[in-house]
Amino acid sequence: MNPVPLRCFLFCFALQTVRWHIELQPWASPTPSLNYEALRFLKYISTSQISCEHMNLNSLRGYSETAKKPWSICLDERFSLIHRIRSKQCRLYSLGLGNDDNQFEISMANSGCEVHRFDPSIKSAHVQEGRHLWYHRLSIDWRDPNPAIAAHKLHSNTKKLGTVLNEFGHQKIDVLKADVESAEWKILENLILEDVVEQIGQLVFEVHIHWPGFEVSGNDSAVVRYWYSLLRELELKDFRLFHTYKDLSKPQMFLKKEAFNASSCYTLSWVNTRWK
Ligand SMILES: *[C@@H]1O[C@H](CO)[C@@H](O)[C@H](O)[C@H]1NC(C)=O
Ligand SMILES: *[C@@H]1O[C@H](CO)[C@@H](O)[C@H](O)[C@H]1NC(C)=O
Repeated sequence: MNPVPLRCFLFCFALQTVRWHIELQPWASPTPSLNYEALRFLKYISTSQISCEHMNLNSLRGYSETAKKPWSICLDERFSLIHRIRSKQCRLYSLGLGNDDNQFEISMANSGCEVHRFDPSIKSAHVQEGRHLWYHRLSIDWRDPNPAIAAHKLHSNTKKLGTVLNEFGHQKIDVLKADVESAEWKILENLILEDVVEQIGQLVFEVHIHWPGFEVSGNDSAVVRYWYSLLRELELKDFRLFHTYKDLSKPQMFLKKEAFNASSCYTLSWVNTRWK
C-alpha cells in the first residue's frame, strides 16, 4: 500500500533534487489526538492569511452575477494576475472530473486568458472550444503511469502536472484550479515535492475531508496532521490563503463522522506572493 519506495525507485535516481516526502509538522498536542489535530486543521483552513479586496472577475466588467462556486482569484493590483489579464498573457489550468460547471473557465477565457481544462471524461483528445479555451482528455495525477501498465492500456491519459507543462512548453500557470474529488492531496504533494508550485501564481482548490483521500494512509490523527503539513509546506513557499469557503450544501462530514461542525468540502484560494 505504501507507494513511496516504488515511486522513488522509478524517479529518485534520475532527479537528485526530488524530495521523497513532505515535512510533517509536530503533532498538535503532546499525545496525538484527533480532537487537537482537527481543531488546528479546521482553524487553519478557515482563516485567511492575507486580505484581498478584488476577488471577482465580474467586478472587472462592472456587472455582478452569482457564480455557482466560489472560485475566487485575487485581482488586487499588488499581485501580477490582474496585470497579466489586462495584457492578455494569463493562463489558467483547470483540473476536473466530468463536472459541467465551466462558468469560471469560460469567464476566464472571455477575459482573454488561455484556458486549459483537463478532464478524462471528454470525448476527443484535444478540443478547442473558443479562441482561448481548450479541453484535453487527460487526468492529472501525482505520478506518471508505470510504462509497463501504460503499454497495455489504450487510453492511458494520466500525467503529472509537471510533465504536462513540459510537453506543452509552458513555464507558468497564472491560476491552477482543481476540483478532483479527493485526489487533491496527493496532487498537491506532488506539486510541492517537485517544486512545480513555484511555477503557479494562484491556487484554487476544492478540498475534501470526509475521508482521507486517495492513497492517504494512517489513522485519523495522522491523516489530519498530513493535510495540515501539506498546507504548511505551501505557506513555507510563500503561498498565502486569501479566501476560504465552507460548502454548506455538501454533507457536513469530517472523516466519516459528523463532527467539529465541519463540512466535507472547502474551497481554498492561495496567492503565491513570490510569483512575478
Ligand atoms: C496514530 O498513529 C500515529 C503514528 O503515525 C501514532 O503515533 C498515534 O499514537 C496514533 N494515534 C491514535 C490516536 O491512535
Ligand atoms: C457551525 O458552522 C456554521 C457555518 O459555518 C456556523 O454558522 C455556526 O456558527 C457553527 N456552529 C458552531 C457551534 O460553531
